[in-house]
Amino acid sequence: MTVKEIFETMEYGTAPESASEALAWIAARDGTCGNFIDGAFTTPRNTMESRNPATGELLAKVTNSGAEDVEAAVKAARKAQPKWAKIGGHWRAKYLYAIARLVQKHSRLLAVMETLDNGKPIREARDADIPLVARHFYYHAGVAQLMDEEMAGREALGVCGQIIPWNFPLLMLAWKIAPAIAAGNTVVLKPAEYTSLTALVFAEICREAGLPAGVVNIVTGDGATGQALVEADVDKIAFTGSTAVGRAIRKATAGTGKSLTLELGGKSPYIVFEDADIDSAVEGLVDAIFFNQGQVCCAGSRLLVQEGIAEDFYARLIARMSKLRVGNPLDKSIDVGAIVDPVQLDRIKGLVEKGGSEGTVHQPCGAPEGCFYPPTLITDLHSSAMLMQEEIFGPVLVATTFRTPAEAVQVANDTRYGLAASVWSENINLALDIAPKLATGVVWINGSNMFDAAAGFGGVRESGFGREGGWEGMMAYTKPSGKAVPLAPAKKHLETDKTEVLDLDRTSKLYIGGKQARPDSGYSEAVYSPKGKLLGHASLANRKDIRNAVEAARGAGGWTKATAHLRAQIIYYIGENLSARSDEFAARIVDLTGTTKGKAEAEVEGAISTLFTYAAWCDKYDSAAKPVPMRGVALAMKEPVGVIGAFCDDRPLGGLVDVIAPAIAMGNRVVAVASEAYPLAATDFYQVLDTSDVPAGVVNILTGAHEGLAAPMAGHLNVDAVWSFSSADLSKTIEIESAGNLKRTWVNYGQSRPIPSKEWLAQATEVKTVWVPYGEG
Ligand code: NAI
Repeated sequence: MTVKEIFETMEYGTAPESASEALAWIAARDGTCGNFIDGAFTTPRNTMESRNPATGELLAKVTNSGAEDVEAAVKAARKAQPKWAKIGGHWRAKYLYAIARLVQKHSRLLAVMETLDNGKPIREARDADIPLVARHFYYHAGVAQLMDEEMAGREALGVCGQIIPWNFPLLMLAWKIAPAIAAGNTVVLKPAEYTSLTALVFAEICREAGLPAGVVNIVTGDGATGQALVEADVDKIAFTGSTAVGRAIRKATAGTGKSLTLELGGKSPYIVFEDADIDSAVEGLVDAIFFNQGQVCCAGSRLLVQEGIAEDFYARLIARMSKLRVGNPLDKSIDVGAIVDPVQLDRIKGLVEKGGSEGTVHQPCGAPEGCFYPPTLITDLHSSAMLMQEEIFGPVLVATTFRTPAEAVQVANDTRYGLAASVWSENINLALDIAPKLATGVVWINGSNMFDAAAGFGGVRESGFGREGGWEGMMAYTKPSGKAVPLAPAKKHLETDKTEVLDLDRTSKLYIGGKQARPDSGYSEAVYSPKGKLLGHASLANRKDIRNAVEAARGAGGWTKATAHLRAQIIYYIGENLSARSDEFAARIVDLTGTTKGKAEAEVEGAISTLFTYAAWCDKYDSAAKPVPMRGVALAMKEPVGVIGAFCDDRPLGGLVDVIAPAIAMGNRVVAVASEAYPLAATDFYQVLDTSDVPAGVVNILTGAHEGLAAPMAGHLNVDAVWSFSSADLSKTIEIESAGNLKRTWVNYGQSRPIPSKEWLAQATEVKTVWVPYGEG
C-alpha cells in the first residue's frame, strides 16, 4: 500500500506492544508462581493454569490454594496486624507512598502483564487501570497520614479477607488493599482464577517497598479458595464479583460478626434526552459499554433513549460501532480486546442467542476467531425483556426508548441492581433533577466511567453495599475504638400472687401509618412491673403487621423530599413535646424497669437531648464536593437509605428514640420494634408523635417478640436496611434473611449498642456520587 492509499483509506497500521519483559518475569520464575505469605513466596503444591485469552497460550501456572494455604496467610496477617496498626498513620503513609511510586516505576510491566492475562487493550491497561492504581495508593497514603485526626475514635478492624474479580485485576486489588492497610488492617487477598499475575507482581512491589512481612498476603486460587477465606478467622470480607456469590457470602458470614462489603453486578442505565449533544453521547456510550469488552460492573449496558431521537441516535451509534477495531489487545490501536476466558465467551453467546430474538440485533463490525465477541447493539427490547434485566458482562448493549423524564426514571429504576447511571442532556436543570431520583450509587452527567480514589464508588439494592474510595470508603475498614461489652438480656417481669386487676383496659395498640392499629394476630401480652403489678397489655405484632407498617413507611416518601429545615423543626418539636411530659415518662420507666427515679429522669432527658442532637444534624450533615482530577465536581450526596426496620434495645424510651431520631433526621422512614421486655413507654410515645406534626407513616412502632419479627422484617423486599440493638441476638437471622435483596444491616451481635456518634448518621445515609464535568468542549 502506498502512503497516498494509506491516507485515503485512513486504515490504522498495527502498533504492537512488546510482551518480552512480562514474559521474562514469568520465565524467571520457571513459569510457576507461589503464594505471597508473610513476606515471601511459597512453593506451590497444587497449581492451575493462567492463559492468555487472546491467543489461548499458557502464560504461567499459579497456586490453586487450599484451606491450609489460606490459614497460613491469615495467621501471618493476624501476627502482623497489631504492630502495623501501632506504627501509626505517618509510617503507614510512607509505605503506601512508596508503593504508589513503585507502581509508577513498574507501570509498563504491570500494564503489559494485565493485558496478557486479562485480554484488555493495552491502551486501557496503560492509560486507565495502572494510573488509577497508582492514584489509589497516593490518595490512601494521604488518608493514612490524616486518619488519626480525621477519623478520631475509629480504629482498624483487624485482618481483612479480600476477594476480587478478573475484570480489573490490579485496580480491584488497589481498591481493596490501599484503604485496608492505610487504616491499620492487614490483608489476605485472593485474585480471580483467570487473572492472578499482576497481583503477584504487586507482591514483589510490596517487598521492594519494604512493607513489613504479613501486612499484605496474596493467595491465588478459585472459588473454593475464596470460600475458605470467607470461612477463615478474618474480621472482614470485602468482595467484588457476581451477585450470586455475593449473596452466598452474605449468608456464610451471617451472625459471625465479620464485617462485610459487597460490590456486585449491575445493569446500569445510559439515559439520553433529546436535547443531548448526540455525538458526545455516542462517544460516551462507546466508552460506557465497550470499555474492557463490556466486562465492567458499572458498564452502561442499558441504553434508554428519548423516542424522538432514537432512530438518529441508533444510526450514528451503529456507524461509530462499525469503526471499532476488535483484536490483539497488545496492539496499541485496538479498541476492543479479548473476552477473559472461553467460559465467559460462551456465557455471552448463550445469553444473546437466548434473548436476542426479542429485539433486533446489530453487529456492525466483526471480531476475529478465538476468544473475541463483536460489539453488539440490540434495539426494540421491552424493559422487562430478559436481556434488559440480566447482566451480560460483555460488549452487548441493549436499548429501549422513553417519552418523558418521569418515564426515563421509571425504566431506569426497573432493575434489581443499582450501581451506576449516565444522564445525557444539555439542560443541567433536567440532569440534576434526574440524578437524585435514580436508585444508584453513582451518576455520571454527560459522561461515563469516571472514577477517582477521592470519590466513593458502590451500589445500592442487589449491586451490594459499602463504598470504595473517599472518606466514606474508610468507614468500612474501621470500627469505633474501644471494647464492645456483651449485652445482658433484659428480663420480662412476671405476674405475682398480688397482681391487681386493672379497672380500665389498657391494651396499647400498634402505631402504623399515623394511626393506632389492632394487631393482626389479635393477641396481646400482659406487662408487669418488677413487683408484679399489672401495667397494661402490649399488642403482639406479626408478619402481617410488619407488612402493613412497611407499606405505610413506603407511602410516606414525601418525608424524604422534605427540606432538612422542616425535618429539623419537627424533630425539635418531638423533643419539646416529650419534655412537656417528662415526669410521666420517667414514672413509666420506673414502673417498667424498677430503676431509680433519678435514672429514669436521666433516660428521658437523654432522649430529649438525642432528639435535639439529630434535629441539629438535619441541616449540618453535609454532602461534599470531592476534589477529583478533572474540570468539574464529584458531588458526594448523602441520601437517605429509604425504609429502615429497627429493633430497639431495652431502655424503654431511650432505645426507641436512639433509632428513630437519626433515621428520620436523614429523611428515612422507620418501622421500629420497641423493647420486648418494656414496651409500654414506646406506646405512650405515639401521643408525642401525634402532637408533633410527624407525617403519617414516617414513624411506625410495633411491639412484640423480636425473634419472630426479625425474619419477616429482614426478608421484606421493601425494607432497605435493618438495624438491631435488641438484647435477643437477632444478628444471624437478620443477616441471612437480608440476603434476599442484599439490604444493608447494622446489628449488635449480642453486644451493647454503639454510642451516639456520626456513625448513626452514616448508617442512616447512602453516599451517591454525582459526577458533573464542566465546560463546552
Ligand atoms: P464470581 O463472582 O464467581 O467470581 C469473583 C471472585 O469470587 C473470584 O475471585 C472467584 O474465585 C471468587 N469466588 C467464586 N465463588 C466463590 C465463593 N463461593 N466464595 C468466595 N469466593 C468465590 O464471578 P465469575 O464466575 O468470574 O463471573 C460470572 C459472572 O459474574 C460474570 O459473567 C458477571 O456477570 C459477574 N461478575 C461481576 C463482576 C462485577 O464486578 N460486578 C465481576 C466478575 C463477575
